[in-house]
Amino acid sequence: MSRVVIITGAASGNGRAIANRFLNHGDRIAAVDLSAEALEERNEDDWVAHADRIICLPADVAGDSGMESVVRRVVEHYGRIDVLVNNAGITGNQEATSIHVTPIAEFDRVIAVNLRGIFLGCRSTIPVMLKQGGGVIVNIASIAGMVAFPARAAYTASKGAVIQLTRSIAADYAHDGIRCNAICPGMIETPMTQWRLDNPDLRQQVLARIPQKEIGTANDVASAVMFIASPDAHYFNGSALVMDGGYTAI
Ligand SMILES: NC(=O)c1ccc[n+]([C@@H]2O[C@H](COP(=O)([O-])OP(=O)(O)OC[C@H]3O[C@@H](n4cnc5c(N)ncnc54)[C@H](O)[C@@H]3O)[C@@H](O)[C@H]2O)c1
Repeated sequence: MSRVVIITGAASGNGRAIANRFLNHGDRIAAVDLSAEALEERNEDDWVAHADRIICLPADVAGDSGMESVVRRVVEHYGRIDVLVNNAGITGNQEATSIHVTPIAEFDRVIAVNLRGIFLGCRSTIPVMLKQGGGVIVNIASIAGMVAFPARAAYTASKGAVIQLTRSIAADYAHDGIRCNAICPGMIETPMTQWRLDNPDLRQQVLARIPQKEIGTANDVASAVMFIASPDAHYFNGSALVMDGGYTAI
């Protein structure tokens, strides 16, 4: 069955890989990101070939009405929503480090995108899923929601809250046929982490911390999302699925 899937932050990194995977699976997608230009730079991958199964919707997930208007347009276009992947996220700028030096506005921005954005996405989508009799929500959290990333206080706090929001949704809507799970990736090679991983010394420091001695890829994240969104994962609800090459195992 071809599902209708909304993916936020779909223009880059994990979101783009997730969008490509659903497309290759035959699903119909709504790709959401801040910038229309970034969403439309799609000649390099499968998006052109599958143009009949994609709508690109520029929106700020953190804005009051961004996800509301996305959901309205998706329902107008496809008539339903089977899967919502809340993937858009930011780490904050270079000043968003330890608490006493993090500008208040930067803390607020990280929480707004990473947490409020997911709240708003779910708040707009859940009524549609309730009407349909079910659906699947996948929140991209991070292992930073389980262990602290040094000097990334706002990011760490936001991802911890995403895991709790995920559990809260599972508790409130499981009996309505809605499953909600979080994926907690470790270090993944994407534009978000490029500044660190392109520096050989920093890359070595990261690798030294990972038992499996490899950095994850956006395709690994897409594989985890495909599984957790599939009927094979029907008994997963409220879980925080860790995929980190063993980072948090030690
Ligand atoms: N890369 C990693 O190591 C890693 C690890 C764990 C979790 N994650 C999470 O995966 C998700 C995707 O990260 P990525 O590594 O692909 O980063 P990325 O920077 O490559 O992509 C993030 C995308 O989100 C979009 N975005 C940012 N703010 C937005 C907003 N307000 N509204 C709509 N779109 C917005 C950006 O434009 C960008 O296209 C994030 O939630 C991130 O926290 C990443």
